[in-house]
Amino acid sequence: MENTRNALLGKVIVITGGSDGLGLETAKILSEENTVIVLGRNEERLKATKLDYYICDVTKPIQAEETIAKIYSKYGKIDCFINNAGTWIVGKLEDNSFDKISEVIDINVKGVINMTKIIVPYMKKQGNGLIINVDSTAGVNWKSEYSVYTSSKWAITGFTKAMQSELLPQGIRVEGYYPGTIKTRLFAKNGLPDKDLTNALEINTAAKAIKFMVDQDDNVVIMELGIKHMYN
Ligand SMILES: NC(=O)c1ccc[n+]([C@@H]2O[C@H](COP(=O)([O-])OP(=O)(O)OC[C@H]3O[C@@H](n4cnc5c(N)ncnc54)[C@H](OP(=O)(O)O)[C@@H]3O)[C@@H](O)[C@H]2O)c1
Repeated sequence: MENTRNALLGKVIVITGGSDGLGLETAKILSEENTVIVLGRNEERLKATKLDYYICDVTKPIQAEETIAKIYSKYGKIDCFINNAGTWIVGKLEDNSFDKISEVIDINVKGVINMTKIIVPYMKKQGNGLIINVDSTAGVNWKSEYSVYTSSKWAITGFTKAMQSELLPQGIRVEGYYPGTIKTRLFAKNGLPDKDLTNALEINTAAKAIKFMVDQDDNVVIMELGIKHMYN
């Protein structure tokens, strides 16, 4: 693709899982005023965004390292990195398969940790940066039959807070976003097509909160931001 370094719009923002759901909507909103690059596994869906995209599976660190290196050399900076890619699991623990448990931990936990590990040296080099981790209300609450998803999101809550302390002195802001249920296809794609989403957040509402985080002044850190539908 063409080198667009001389024609950048606003901030350079990279979003994992930018091909569907919350990531896609966030990419659309942010791209009105910024240069947004979307990452995901499905090329057809990525192409449909009409944004610059890279095939990048967050569970493949070598592919991810190569992807971030390409983006950095093309744009010369990454102002904001949004760890959004995620998957979901529900059910009694003994009914959850070993494979699905591994997949959830690989994407939701190791994916966020590894992508952050890759992006941090670039942000340290530029002396600034914003990392937004899309967590969940499941990262601070708990309920039965959500043990594995809850574990994955609590891990990210701890990771986000520890990294916030570690990186703030170096000018890098790490922020956690904790939305309640959103009307995405996350549940249908993961075995629960009939989940009642009546009292769930509109995707646009959930994405606008991320824009709010991105739009803060550079010297402001949002320690944590949680939203949910008032009747959920
Ligand atoms: N929906 C909710 O109610 C809700 C509530 C709170 C928090 N969240 C969190 O919000 C985030 C987005 O969820 P969503 O509801 O928007 O789900 P979604 O509609 O299923 O979108 C998930 C996105 O993640 C990508 N993805 C999945 N695995 C990936 C991998 N290994 N590597 C790269 N990309 C991958 C998917 O892309 P491809 O499959 O095309 O690669 C897709 O773009 C997740 O972290 C989720 O836990 C969701």
